[in-house]
Amino acid sequence: MASASTVKPALHIEVRLKSVGGAFVRTDLVREEVLEWLSKTFIHLKIDSELKNYDALPHAYLIESINVVDFGGSEGATSYHRLNDVQLDVQAYELREEGEGASAVRTHEGDDDDALLHVRVTPLPSKSLNGVWESLVFDGTIPSRLLRFITRMMSLMKIESLDTTIINWNRVILLYGPPGSGKTTLAKALAQKLAIRLGKHFTEGKLVEINAHSVLSKWFGESSKLVGKMFDSIHTMADEETTLVCVLIDEVETLASSREKAASGNECGDAIRATNQVLTALDRLRHRPNVLVLCTSNLITTIVSSSSCHPKAPLHELPRQDPAFLDRVDVKQHIPNPCSAAAYDILRSSLNELIRCNILIPSPDPDDDVEKPDLDVVQLVGETLSSRSDDWILMDSDSIPTLLYMNVCLWDRAHCPARKLWNISQRCEGLSGRALRRLPFLALALHTHSDPCTVHEALAALAVAVDEETGRIDMKVESNEQKDVLGRHFA
Ligand SMILES: Nc1ncnc2c1ncn2[C@@H]1O[C@H](COP(=O)(O)OP(=O)(O)OP(=O)(O)O)[C@@H](O)[C@H]1O
Ligand SMILES: [Mg+2]
Repeated sequence: MASASTVKPALHIEVRLKSVGGAFVRTDLVREEVLEWLSKTFIHLKIDSELKNYDALPHAYLIESINVVDFGGSEGATSYHRLNDVQLDVQAYELREEGEGASAVRTHEGDDDDALLHVRVTPLPSKSLNGVWESLVFDGTIPSRLLRFITRMMSLMKIESLDTTIINWNRVILLYGPPGSGKTTLAKALAQKLAIRLGKHFTEGKLVEINAHSVLSKWFGESSKLVGKMFDSIHTMADEETTLVCVLIDEVETLASSREKAASGNECGDAIRATNQVLTALDRLRHRPNVLVLCTSNLITTIVSSSSCHPKAPLHELPRQDPAFLDRVDVKQHIPNPCSAAAYDILRSSLNELIRCNILIPSPDPDDDVEKPDLDVVQLVGETLSSRSDDWILMDSDSIPTLLYMNVCLWDRAHCPARKLWNISQRCEGLSGRALRRLPFLALALHTHSDPCTVHEALAALAVAVDEETGRIDMKVESNEQKDVLGRHFA
């Protein structure tokens, strides 16, 4: 047996295969080929890089892309990894079309479809979820830490000799935080990534979304029966042990509300029975090593701790999550609104998309005579400060660069787009990821008047839109005042 010191951390490589229209592809063959090619060709590999020049591989015609995506070792490590120091984990996968495999939901012959109306099944890895993981920006490493943790736990649960009556892990994850912070999107992206990363253990994947809210609102009086049926259908899917089933219960507080609160008379008996049914269903699913339950909730006061509820506050203002539900949750992960640096990244990616589509055109830079820095120096600094691959590659591009690049190279260019965007980002405190994704486009529609407009005009409009959204200026300012504000931002 390998000692702890000889076990190398994993370097994860994703090989995306071309869609071959239902034809069977030997992913294990491709995996082996790529593994051998990597070992023979490279000394180092860099996280977030796409590898090219694999044309000589026998199955190269099947390969769409090869990406180095993650390192399983200590956080904050350099983004370059020597192959001698890591264990290569190569996963080959094909993206599935929406609708494939949905027929497997039916529970029994002749069942009515009530339960199915509230369950949406997406095959994993899914075309519709491609790129979602990369589009999310969080402070720190929340997504990658969650992914590593769940991957390890799911792999360990596959060990057949493990006695699950002694090792108690429910495989229930709760993402909680303010509205629009990206909980639902992250839960789906996690399911997608897990289906890829656990490809050696599970040949298929399914994302089962339960619309908790519609169960209670539309089927008043019948909810607990419906919850029971929905979970029966999940058991049917999980019968296939090589299928990874990721169940997403959005707005879980609807189904798992506090029975204590209900007992005090504010909730009907139907909701109590539905909560009981959810708890029983989660206990049943515990014995299925191929099922993971991802829940989201934006009732922060409910989740953080019941002690945070003001004792005299009316219950409908501070509803409490059922303690028995919370006790079944293995990981409770807070998903906050983005910090300034994350806000910069979200706004930057949206603006760069507008630049890419020629909706925005570059503005002349008043500081253009300032000497540009030496690329080698920037690379060195980029490497020591961050693991993101695109930190220093935008020297001559029209795109807005990363924050790191701006700090290192553009600190003396007060009027460049990046510096202006950073000023705006620092005013975004309290805005959700959802609002930040919406604002660049909204700003163009509300506060610019011709197409295409320049990046500087767009930034001036964005500054106004941010101030409106955060309540710093009134949305209904008189047009002259608005012109003044825009004028100040242009200055
Ligand atoms: N951290 C983030 N990074 C990038 N985009 C984000 C982020 N958070 C939210 N978004 C954007 O906002 C949209 C809405 O996010 P999502 O529905 O996942 O939020 P939520 O936390 O589930 O909200 P709610 O609590 O209202 O259900 C996403 O499609 C995404 O485009
Ligand atoms: Mg949500």
